[in-house]
Amino acid sequence: MFKSGLKYKFKAVNAHGIHSPFVFEFYNEVLKKAHLSEKKEIEKLRKQLLADHSEIEITDFGAGSRIHNSNKRKISDLAKHAAISKKYGRLLSRVVEYYDLKNALELGTSLGIGTLYISSGGADITTLEGCPEIARNAQANIDKLGFTSVDMKVGEFESSFSQLTNKEYDLIYIDGNHEEEATIKYFEKFLNHAHNDTFLVFDDIRWSEGMEKAWQKIIQSEKIHVSIELLRMGIVLKRKEQEKQHFILKF
Ligand SMILES: C[S@@+](CC[C@H](N)C(=O)[O-])C[C@H]1O[C@@H](n2cnc3c(N)ncnc32)[C@H](O)[C@@H]1O
Repeated sequence: MFKSGLKYKFKAVNAHGIHSPFVFEFYNEVLKKAHLSEKKEIEKLRKQLLADHSEIEITDFGAGSRIHNSNKRKISDLAKHAAISKKYGRLLSRVVEYYDLKNALELGTSLGIGTLYISSGGADITTLEGCPEIARNAQANIDKLGFTSVDMKVGEFESSFSQLTNKEYDLIYIDGNHEEEATIKYFEKFLNHAHNDTFLVFDDIRWSEGMEKAWQKIIQSEKIHVSIELLRMGIVLKRKEQEKQHFILKF
């Protein structure tokens, strides 16, 4: 949303405004050094997908169809509109690398770009995708790059939840079904799969009024003590030992 994006620009701070050692370190070592997690092979794949104008039949889930109405979609359009950007992909990869995260969960695979960034940081990842045709393409992309630590579950999120084997994950990336109610529901559910230092990451926090409301509710939860707001992503952690605080950081 334009207005809240502007608000972010005015409020976002750099290292000088951060008084939490954990968040100070996150800012300096992760945000400022995200560019170090450059992944040439993933960006090469993105280029190929952007040039692939073949159409696939998609099954639309959640609030994903704001741009297109038909149930045919070009691979190039998915690569352009649904895939994580290079900047935020590197950020996720850097988080995994810097904190040595072992297990990740992703809600919403799409073509697998975010999955690959997380996996390339060194974490095993379980990723959930509802549309069988998109999932088929994502699996082909993952195989093409030779990533073997990815477990994809195909089906509506709710039906895949019962197949999750990990009790807890180190990183949970919620990037599908961008509805207010669903986002809050996933937050509450996955708090139970989060340990004290799990990174719970929400994409598209300014995508719609509903997503902005969901994000505002999430950061008010007493169960999380650290919340970090970037322009399009929100990250929350339990970190019970810290005083509850919200940080709007330049990225
Ligand atoms: C924004 S895209 C994911 C992008 C990907 N995480 C990345 O970083 O490149 C969201 C995906 O979630 C899937 N999705 C949305 N709602 C879903 C639901 N309720 N169940 C299963 N899949 C869903 C859509 O089919 C879509 O492919």
